[in-house]
Amino acid sequence: MTVYTEKMHVMNTYARWDVTIVKGSGTTVWDHTGKAYLDCTSGIGVTSLGHCPPAVSAKLHQQLDTLWHSSNVTQHPLQEELGKKLTELSGLDQVFFCNSGAEANEAAIKLARRYAQKTKNEDRFEIITFEQSFHGRTLATLTATGQQKVKEGFNPLPAGFITVPYGDVEAVKNVTTNQTCAVLLELVQGEGGVHPASMEFVTELYAWCKSNDILLMIDEVQTGIGRTGEWFSYQHYGIVPDVITLAKGLGSGFPIGAMLATEAVAAAFSPGSHGTTFGGNQLATTAGMATLLEMEQQNVLSHVKAMSEYLLDALKDIAKQYPHQIKGVRGLGLMVGLEMTGEVSGYLKAAQQKGVLLLQAGPNVIRLLPALIIQKSEIDQLVLVLKEILQSGEK
Ligand SMILES: Cc1ncc(COP(=O)(O)O)c(C=O)c1O
Repeated sequence: MTVYTEKMHVMNTYARWDVTIVKGSGTTVWDHTGKAYLDCTSGIGVTSLGHCPPAVSAKLHQQLDTLWHSSNVTQHPLQEELGKKLTELSGLDQVFFCNSGAEANEAAIKLARRYAQKTKNEDRFEIITFEQSFHGRTLATLTATGQQKVKEGFNPLPAGFITVPYGDVEAVKNVTTNQTCAVLLELVQGEGGVHPASMEFVTELYAWCKSNDILLMIDEVQTGIGRTGEWFSYQHYGIVPDVITLAKGLGSGFPIGAMLATEAVAAAFSPGSHGTTFGGNQLATTAGMATLLEMEQQNVLSHVKAMSEYLLDALKDIAKQYPHQIKGVRGLGLMVGLEMTGEVSGYLKAAQQKGVLLLQAGPNVIRLLPALIIQKSEIDQLVLVLKEILQSGEK
């Protein structure tokens, strides 16, 4: 196969690694030279059942010979089936299908505005978001994102977003006005450095939103579909939000996004108010349904909890051994961050050389998003490689 070293035809929007993955199975991927890697990235939180999971693959193969796409003007039993499953798992009532996390958040933003303006008044459009958050790359979602670097060069940005420090309920209260329609947040900030929200913050925020008739919208694009050890991260906090957004892990790598809402909120959309050509087509919904059924079949949630404990314990041990390099370990389920005392890009390169793929979240955090089916022996392999790299850094 051809491996392009000069980037001639594709726009230069990614700082790509010097790795060309050509094949994947379970937690292993292979590059074009045949070198195997333990994939602790899951393609950035996507391939939760591992690469090419046989149960999903079989259903997709069947669907490939049946129907790929019929458009959203036809009846769509596969969307109904996956929608029913997602509402049962989440406690929300209705779903809108799209193709990515940004689109799911864009749909949530539109729904929140439309709901507020239909049920309250035209001036209620403002959405409160948090510093270090990440919600996507469309104009509205990058404006919602609490990181300056994703906004540079894109002025004028849409009006109606206000960002406050993460975890600070008083700040939310201070910026709430009669223009506020919703709060949008991640309960574990992913791209922003793997920061789980505290129980106290979430409980107080929930109460504030309820008492002020503000929609609470949880971005579950990275945390959803079992990543944190529950189907959705809000289930750790004993709350049910008004709106949630999903993507990454839902289709095992087949692009699909979803936005779910309570019935009352969802009723703000009517035919023509939102839509997409590809959203939830027959292949995407087949991948989504097969992924959820396989996760249930394999009892993935309890496996995630057990592996999370095993991984976090091992990492905390290493952190004690290398305090000059590791500042802290944090995470929820199999969304784990190692905060280092310096830049992490060198650690990522060293791990790649030793056959392990790791991610970063910001300049100083190593982020681990392994497949949810990772086994103890593979965690041992990861920990061994981390130790070797840290040891060589001590010299
Ligand atoms: C929490 C969160 N929201 C939204 C997005 C955007 O998703 P996508 O890249 O599918 O548009 C991401 C992507 O990393 C994310 O982590």
